[in-house]
Amino acid sequence: MKNRDNSIAWNYHDATKHSYWSVRSSGHGLDWDNRPFPFKVYPDLEPIPLPQSTEPLSHEALSAISSVIAPTAGQPLPDLSALARILYLSAGITRRRNHSGGEFFFRAASHTGAMYAIELYLVCRDLPGLEAGVYHFGPGDFALRKLRSGDLRGVLVRATAAEPAMVLSPAIIVSTGTYWRNAWKYQARTYRHFGWDGGTLLANLLAAATAVGLSARVVLGFVDAPVNGLLGLDTSREVALSLVPLGYQEGLPTDHVPTVEPLTHATLAYSKSEVDYPLLREMHEASSLISEPEAQDWRSGPNTIRPLKPAADFVPLSPIPDAAPSDSIDRVIIRRGSTRQFARKAIALNQLSSILYHATQGIPADFLDPPGNLLNDLYLIVHAVEDLSAGAYVLHRDSWVLEQLEAGQFRREAGHLGLDQELPADASATVFFLANLNPILERFGNRGYRAVQLEAGIIGGKMYLAAYALGIGATGLTFYDDEVTEFFSPHAAGKSAIFLMAFGRPAGK
Ligand SMILES: Cc1cc2nc3c(=O)[nH]c(=O)nc-3n(C[C@H](O)[C@H](O)[C@H](O)COP(=O)(O)O)c2cc1C
Repeated sequence: MKNRDNSIAWNYHDATKHSYWSVRSSGHGLDWDNRPFPFKVYPDLEPIPLPQSTEPLSHEALSAISSVIAPTAGQPLPDLSALARILYLSAGITRRRNHSGGEFFFRAASHTGAMYAIELYLVCRDLPGLEAGVYHFGPGDFALRKLRSGDLRGVLVRATAAEPAMVLSPAIIVSTGTYWRNAWKYQARTYRHFGWDGGTLLANLLAAATAVGLSARVVLGFVDAPVNGLLGLDTSREVALSLVPLGYQEGLPTDHVPTVEPLTHATLAYSKSEVDYPLLREMHEASSLISEPEAQDWRSGPNTIRPLKPAADFVPLSPIPDAAPSDSIDRVIIRRGSTRQFARKAIALNQLSSILYHATQGIPADFLDPPGNLLNDLYLIVHAVEDLSAGAYVLHRDSWVLEQLEAGQFRREAGHLGLDQELPADASATVFFLANLNPILERFGNRGYRAVQLEAGIIGGKMYLAAYALGIGATGLTFYDDEVTEFFSPHAAGKSAIFLMAFGRPAGK
């Protein structure tokens, strides 16, 4: 059981840290002639076109971001148009732009470097408008392609040792990551990016599921090999990362597991040649589960990661009530993009508070029970927020207060920590995600590293949406790992930097 040898996750994490010197000495250039094609293409399979809805959804954005529907009876059976809506709002093409390196297809969720290495598959029973089968979602032509016929959900249910939401789900969405499609740019750091990009996508997916009235849950506790086998993946290049059971139906019998033959569908090459980064495959294999008891153990037992305790100097936060008008969730998703320049203007305290609040709610995941638990702690550098003095803070979610760690204007420091970019210096506030990896890896093994990165991506994705719902700009960012921990120490001593977001007024608006 390699998953229990936590030294592998630590090695990966340490080997893929950014520092001022590592960034300047890497010598890695982008080979634009070899840029990977951003879509997986099955040339021999017929497309099944998906219906494009033009009707706006009635669900208000902030509430869709922060609420979930429990997997209980009374939900509609998902039909093709509901599934099409969810797939579009998670991974559909929302913008196209020409660039000297070729045409870029921007997607509904933010992804590092617009590389879009996350693919989606659907495994379902007979549904209105769609036969039972295993399908690949192609955002390029907005179509499904059938990889297998028949109801094969039992393979996934067994792989999760009968996780309750899986047993009850008529349709399961599987996310995968394709190494080369991110590693072309980010090399061995791609495993972190799988969590980040997979997470931003899931933030959209969870909100879209809520908006169409379906329950959804993020399941990471599964035996890897049968899931990869069901999708016919070449696991040296593409691997399953998460399962999301949608909706509710009568329980699926769990005693019968269908057998599946290897798949032989051809796919097109992404690039003329690919570079292999063995560290990525090593991290994946070492965080793979190989038996059902391991999958069962993943979700049983108390989650020992405790929330932070507030200290003396704190500022209470007051989220904007849900009743405050905001756009529907689909309109917010479609207009979302990463802010390219901030205006150094202030945002309101209740706007910052609302972003933090809505982004940290509604994350139904099999590694976060009881609900409300999170693996990441949120630290802030505030530059320009009305009624909040500039400085460094830590968020206490249990009492909903910001504790000031140090007063002062830290624009220059934030810019430096965020890889010497202008965005974190010009923003109104930056939010750094830090996690205490030791107890997480002790509880979950190496796979806890997948969970902590994915959780960060989900919260980051929700932050993007909450900010855009409130008319504020946002962007994900990259960072110098150890310098982030040093900046927030002694409070953050021993923690690892996981993720970074910046918020503010976009320049020119
Ligand atoms: C985790 C994460 C880190 C990112 N890091 C940076 C960054 O360091 N600098 C930057 O300019 N953009 C960064 N981005 C923004 C992406 O480049 C952007 O999401 C991508 O180009 C897609 O564009 P869109 O978000 O406007 O759809 C990051 C995004 C994410 C999700």
